Amino acid sequence: MAHPFDALTADAMRAGGSWKWSTPGADAHGRGLIGAFVAEMDFPAAPAVVDAVRSCADANRFGYLSDAWVADMAAACASFWADRFGWSLDPDRIRPLPDVLTALTAVVEHFTPAGSPIVLPTPAYMPFLTVPGMLGRELVRVPMAHGAGRWSVDLDALDRAFATSGAKLLVLVNPHNPTGRVLTDEELAGVTEVVERHDARVFADEIHAPLTFDARVHRPYAATSDAAAAHTVTATSASKAWNLPGLKCGQLILANAADAQRWSQVGYLAEHGTATPGVLATTAAYAHGREWLDDVLAYLDGNRALLRETPLPGLEVTVPEGTYLAWLDGSTLGLDEPPSAFFAREAGVVMTDGAACAGPGGMRLNLAMARPVLADALERMSAALAGARR
Ligand SMILES: Cc1ncc(COP(=O)(O)O)c(C=O)c1O
Repeated sequence: MAHPFDALTADAMRAGGSWKWSTPGADAHGRGLIGAFVAEMDFPAAPAVVDAVRSCADANRFGYLSDAWVADMAAACASFWADRFGWSLDPDRIRPLPDVLTALTAVVEHFTPAGSPIVLPTPAYMPFLTVPGMLGRELVRVPMAHGAGRWSVDLDALDRAFATSGAKLLVLVNPHNPTGRVLTDEELAGVTEVVERHDARVFADEIHAPLTFDARVHRPYAATSDAAAAHTVTATSASKAWNLPGLKCGQLILANAADAQRWSQVGYLAEHGTATPGVLATTAAYAHGREWLDDVLAYLDGNRALLRETPLPGLEVTVPEGTYLAWLDGSTLGLDEPPSAFFAREAGVVMTDGAACAGPGGMRLNLAMARPVLADALERMSAALAGARR
């Protein structure tokens, strides 16, 4: 049966003016470009979210955040995390910030020794490769292990990275952008062991937490053990699962009393940038957007199936366990240019170049589009591959 999202055309998306769909130009065959790079969804927002933003305008709620709105948002977030992920959180330990990057900046500044390096498994979400340098920190990249289309954190390499660099912070993204991995309890316990050995901390980026498939359930890292709770600051947001990154509201989750106390002294500046309409929309998303989310998850699952079923010979395709981002490896195609440039020109599909994620030869394909548009994108890519083989 057709889903209303099926009716969202590429032309309508282009007319919408989003960053994702505003790459100018056409492919070598004169077709319009398909925006598949930025991590946002093409789907209209949940009715509860739209209503919240409308009533924000109707009631002229454009002033500074009140404590009551923050408390409502924290309670809605805590309830969602308890119901979905089994983590009972004290709402007082959930604080508002504009976004996850602000959270990382604040955690680096206030929860790590001055000047200490930062460890990051790669491939990685692009800004995590550049933001540490902007904060005057050395970034230590740890390539993930990879075999049979599955990526995992290389614990031995992680151990060596901490030992040789003296780093005191690990940026742990789970579910993982760009590989789509959803880490298991065993993998998370392995990470805890390494981090404890080096007396380090974890910045747990769980922005994609609600977006998991095939009965996988996201495991909040800080909830896996007392040790993890003692060394972790978690950041999340409704922005990925409910598609509202422009509304500027994220959440910092403090998992122990000492960190909560520290945050109460230093968090003001980071919290100050949070947008009031974003907080009200986030409350609505967590409290009243669950049905919409489940529908989106089912739709995305159908898009995953389409990717799995479409032959793309020569590409190694990683269908995501979580997130709506697929990782495609084109390094064995033998092209004399990055595969992302080849597909932008020959197929008109604009993906994130793997090199920007420290995964050269790879591409990040955003699956969160109308299924007919995705089918068109995949057919174009398939034809481009056939053309390259001739
Ligand atoms: C893993 C991850 N972290 C952080 C972000 C950025 O989040 P924010 O807009 O809240 O800074 C993204 C956006 O794609 C992401 O995928």
